[in-house]
Amino acid sequence: MATIKEHQSSKSEGDEEDLLDVLLRLIDDGTLGIPITFDNIKAVILDVFTGGTETSSTVVEWTISELIRNPTVMAKAQGEVREAMMRWKNRDFDEELLSELQYLKLVIKESLRLHPPLPLMLPRVAKEACQVLDYEVPAGTRVMINAWALGRDPLYWGSDAERFRPERFEGGEVDYKGNHLEFVPFGAGRRICPGMAFGMATVELVLAQLLFHFDWKVPGGGEVNTAAEELDMQEAFGASVVRKEKLRLVPVLRTPAARCLIDRRLRSLLYNINKIILAQVVTVPCSSHVVNHEVMFGHV
Ligand code: HEM
Repeated sequence: MATIKEHQSSKSEGDEEDLLDVLLRLIDDGTLGIPITFDNIKAVILDVFTGGTETSSTVVEWTISELIRNPTVMAKAQGEVREAMMRWKNRDFDEELLSELQYLKLVIKESLRLHPPLPLMLPRVAKEACQVLDYEVPAGTRVMINAWALGRDPLYWGSDAERFRPERFEGGEVDYKGNHLEFVPFGAGRRICPGMAFGMATVELVLAQLLFHFDWKVPGGGEVNTAAEELDMQEAFGASVVRKEKLRLVPVLRTPAARCLIDRRLRSLLYNINKIILAQVVTVPCSSHVVNHEVMFGHV
C-alpha cells in the first residue's frame, strides 16, 4: 500500500508510465467503465508476480534439461545464437536479434509441449448442462483441461510423441496462441494467459544468453558428456510441474566475462507443493481437443 502511495506522489511529468502508473491513472480518469480500487491494483500486481515468475523460470529449466539430453539439438540452437551474435557484431541481445532465432523458438515450443509449466488449466465450470461427444455434462461440473496429456498424445503428435524433436513444428501451423487445442501451454479462450508475449520474450532472452555465453556439462560427465542422456527428468507433483531433482550443471564460460550479463546460477526451484482444493464440486479432468474447445470457448 505504501509503495502504491509513494508511486502516486513521486511520478513527475514526462516520466514513462509503468504498470502501476497505468493502473493509478485508470482510477483517476475513470475511463475504464468499472470502478477499480487499490485492492484491485494489489490483486493485479500479485497476479503478475505469481503468474509470471515461476512459469517462465520453469520453462527455462526444462528447456535446458532437454537440450542437455539432446546434444544435437543443443549444438544447433547454440550455433544459431552464436552466428546471429557474430552477424550483429556482438550487440546486446534485443528484440531484433531474438526475431532471428527461429530454431530457438521451435526448441521452446517443443519444451512447452512436453513440459507445460501449468499442466492443468484454470478450472472451468459448466454454466449449463451440455453434451460433449457422447457425454452429458451437468450444469455446475468443474472441468480441468490436461495440457500435459494433450501434449504427449500420439493421436496428435505421432508415435514419437514422447521424443524431444523441435523440428516437428518446422513449417507447421501449430502455435501456442490458443488456436490449436492439442497444444495449449498458455491456455485458450477468454482465460488465456495475458502474459503470453511477455513470458515468451523472457524465456527467449534468458535462453539465448545461456546458450551464447556457456557450454553446459553434467557434473562428472568429463570431456564427452556421457551422463547427459541419463539426466533425471522426474517431475514433482504440484499445481505447476517443476523438476523433482534440482538441475545441477557445470557452465563452461565461452565468451569474455565482461560480456557476461547473466547470473550463472540456474534458479533452484524446489517447489512447495500447493494442494489443488477441489472441495465438493464434481471435477472432470479431460485431455481431448474436442472437449477442450467446448470448455475453453463455452464456459468460464
Ligand atoms: C512461459 C511463461 C508462461 C506460461 C507457460 C503461462 C501459462 C499460463 C496458463 C496455462 C494459464 C491458464 C490459462 C487457461 O486456463 O486458459 C495462465 C494464466 C495466467 N497467466 Fe500465464 N503463463 C506464463 C507467463 C505469464 C506472465 C509473464 C504473466 C504476467 C506478467 C502471466 C500472467 C497470467 C495471469 C494473470 C493468468 C490468469 C488469467 C485469468 O485469470 O484468466 N503469465 N498462464
